[in-house]
Amino acid sequence: MVRRIAVSTGGGDCPGLNAVIRAVVTTAIGDYGIEVFGIETGFDGLMGRGGARVRPLTLDVVRGILPEGGTILGTSNRGSPFAMPREGGGIVDRSQEIVDRLGELGIDTVVSIGGDGSMRIAAQLGELGVKVVGVPKTIDNDLMVTDVTFGFDSALQVATEAIDRLHSTADSHHRVMVVEVMGRNAGWIALHAGIAGGADIILLPEIPYRTQAVVQALVKRARTGRKSSIVVVAEGAVADGGDALYLDRPASTHTVARRLGGVGNQIAEDIAEACGADTRATVLGHVQRGGSPSPFDRVLGTRFGCAAAHLVARGGHGRMVALRGADVIDCPIVDAIAEPKLVDPDGELVRAAKSVGVSFGI
Ligand code: F6P
Repeated sequence: MVRRIAVSTGGGDCPGLNAVIRAVVTTAIGDYGIEVFGIETGFDGLMGRGGARVRPLTLDVVRGILPEGGTILGTSNRGSPFAMPREGGGIVDRSQEIVDRLGELGIDTVVSIGGDGSMRIAAQLGELGVKVVGVPKTIDNDLMVTDVTFGFDSALQVATEAIDRLHSTADSHHRVMVVEVMGRNAGWIALHAGIAGGADIILLPEIPYRTQAVVQALVKRARTGRKSSIVVVAEGAVADGGDALYLDRPASTHTVARRLGGVGNQIAEDIAEACGADTRATVLGHVQRGGSPSPFDRVLGTRFGCAAAHLVARGGHGRMVALRGADVIDCPIVDAIAEPKLVDPDGELVRAAKSVGVSFGI
């Protein structure tokens, strides 16, 4: 019998986290009389000398949070409890602190809302005997099994609106506008927002581009009377034979993901140099992660949160809720992280984009 559970939000935030928290709490309390605690700042809230940083999540606490962006619990994407930076250098495995704290608090199951990093931590904690149910979150949409992660749709809305706005200023000034969007090593945001925003060129991590081909596509457009062009580039896009660009150096001591960025400005410079086009770059950055969730993400977050609470009550663990077609299902967490879900370069979506005239710079 499950009596007390805890909720954690880990990794980069995204719109819809609060919708999930609210649904977990209302379902767990309302349907099962389960007590719910919130862990602050991801699993960091269960480590450290000051004791656990947890607080009760009551119906009062979650009232009104559905449309709020971010997470009322806070989050962290700076590492894993299995490989934390040690004072004075090196890394240390602090996962046992989490096991101990959960035991002290009498927590039966943790609902871990997160992306691939959080699901990996959840799977590893499972090996230590911690019961975890996962809820897939990320604007990158790069988790396997689920058709879509919540947060993706809201990020798409922001990116698409930005592209719409860039069209008019691009037309006025006869410019090439390059827009760099997030997504890490997956091109889902770039591909969907590029198609939705009517981009002329879309550059993805999954389809290495050639600068010459990008320039040729732009010159061809100019020759046929097009006065402006829009290039949407994923932050993880790579030139053929080249590497992704990063804003930071590789960390030698611990396992924190590096910060992608810079490819948008690089391409804008390359285009201007190659054909003299008046070119500007816009890096959308964290505006894609902020703000109120879209209606789709509110609904998906609510469905995921309810499903996670039902799964916990049934004694399920080591599993993640997921969207498959019209249904919310659950699957082993390890299936979701076996490999990242990437854009298929020969898939229907890429072919549709090509059919409407999009160049992928190849
Ligand atoms: O994974 C979500 C994401 O927004 C990626 O698209 C991006 O590369 C990364 O997080 C940015 O992380 P940070 O918030 O640490 O800059």
